[in-house]
Amino acid sequence: MERVLIKELLSDEYIGRQVIVCGWVRTRRESKGFAFLIISDGSSQDTLQVVVSNEANCFEQIQKCNTGASVKIKGFLRESPAKGQRYEVEAQEIEVIGESDPEKYPLQKKGHTLEFLREISHLRARTNTFGAIFRIRNVLANAIHNFFQDRGFLWVHTPIITSSDCEGAGELFSVTTLDFKNIPKKDDMVDYSRDFFGKPAYLTVSGQLEAEFLALSLGKVYTFGPTFRAENSNTTRHLSEFWMIEPEMAFADLKDDMKLAEDFLRYLFKEVIIKCEKELLFLQNQYKRISLDEISKLSDTNFNHITYTEAISELKKSKENFQFTVDWGKDLQSEHEKYLTDKVIGGPVIVTDYPKGVKAFYMRLNNDGITVAAMDVLVPKVGEIIGGSQREERLEILENRMEEIGISIENLQWYLDLRRFGTVPHAGFGLGFERLVQYITGMINIRDVIPCPRAPGEIGF
Ligand code: 4AD
Ligand code: MG
Repeated sequence: MERVLIKELLSDEYIGRQVIVCGWVRTRRESKGFAFLIISDGSSQDTLQVVVSNEANCFEQIQKCNTGASVKIKGFLRESPAKGQRYEVEAQEIEVIGESDPEKYPLQKKGHTLEFLREISHLRARTNTFGAIFRIRNVLANAIHNFFQDRGFLWVHTPIITSSDCEGAGELFSVTTLDFKNIPKKDDMVDYSRDFFGKPAYLTVSGQLEAEFLALSLGKVYTFGPTFRAENSNTTRHLSEFWMIEPEMAFADLKDDMKLAEDFLRYLFKEVIIKCEKELLFLQNQYKRISLDEISKLSDTNFNHITYTEAISELKKSKENFQFTVDWGKDLQSEHEKYLTDKVIGGPVIVTDYPKGVKAFYMRLNNDGITVAAMDVLVPKVGEIIGGSQREERLEILENRMEEIGISIENLQWYLDLRRFGTVPHAGFGLGFERLVQYITGMINIRDVIPCPRAPGEIGF
């Protein structure tokens, strides 16, 4: 007999049938000749109640069924006569697979803080909270692929080790095999010709540049993979390693790009509500930071749009005491983004046409000569979850721009080739996967939506 997942088990279909369930003991209590175990197996927000009569042969195993122990239960599923659960399993056989010392097991019945749980990342997925978050993460990842696959986008695999800094922000982790105790030098500089790749190499900050050449051959593509930023920002919305989804479309402009972003987010909101209702309800009740109604409403609403210039004038009008001054030409800080979403708009907003000085070299210059065809999607509480743009497809303007900000034209000849041979308007964006999961789950800290968070000074697991 094969084991049944709790997710499948709790239904009328299994009533009266003998089943095998495997999982971990959450709690055990004894009362009036029976022992009651609560078992979870990670497949569902639901747990399973197992009832063991003290007359059953397997009752002697009960003493070993401490919190955290792994068990295999054979028994019959029946409707539960008691309140609190619809179904339960009446056990006939119990096998304790791995015992757990209740004095030492770090997860106790009482609630733990999220900070404490971060210190035991290897066990926290056994809690209701992290079970919910990681199941939501899975559903969203799957929905992302479905969304693009249904619309003719090809999933492309861009490199993790690269020689280019796509965002030009210098937030790169080096990849090297040089011996730190004996670094080869030439003219007092590191001699990278003797390094593994013969020149400096890094972990990628974005797959965009490669996605661009693939879009300019394959039409519509997307990446979904890990990206790395050696940005020294210890905030609740920055990770050093995060997953990004980057669609790129040939023959598309900024309007097409924004429409794709909106359709995409609405689709994801819809899917997560259909497939993770129990998880979302749990998080809503437990943390009071999300509302299913709100997510559901968003899945049907058009997003507000505002230009950067309009945003600046709204911010200037406000009576808020911002830490960072508001000035046309300066980038929006997270306090500004928060004010726009929470106070000005009251929901998600797409900000467009930023000054060229605050954005990356590849963004298309607008006719005014000072702004670029950029768009950021901002959401309440989290801020920017998507950054995208129409790309500069005009060779001369792109070369000028690269020269202006000191991007190596020599290293990116292949990128310029795309503008030399059959260039077309094209556009794309990057969605930060953890920011999306953070927004949907309402977690305050982005470290709580990825199994092993990487941040400055943090590489424990
Ligand atoms: O705005 P970013 O830097 O844009 C790019 O990388 C472009 N190449 C995307 C493109 O057009 N193809 O990053 C995109 C998104 C951000 O909006 C944010 O959601 C997320 O990636 N992100 C981070 N998430 C977690 N931790 C960090 N340190 C992040 N930096 C960016
Ligand atoms: Mg950005």
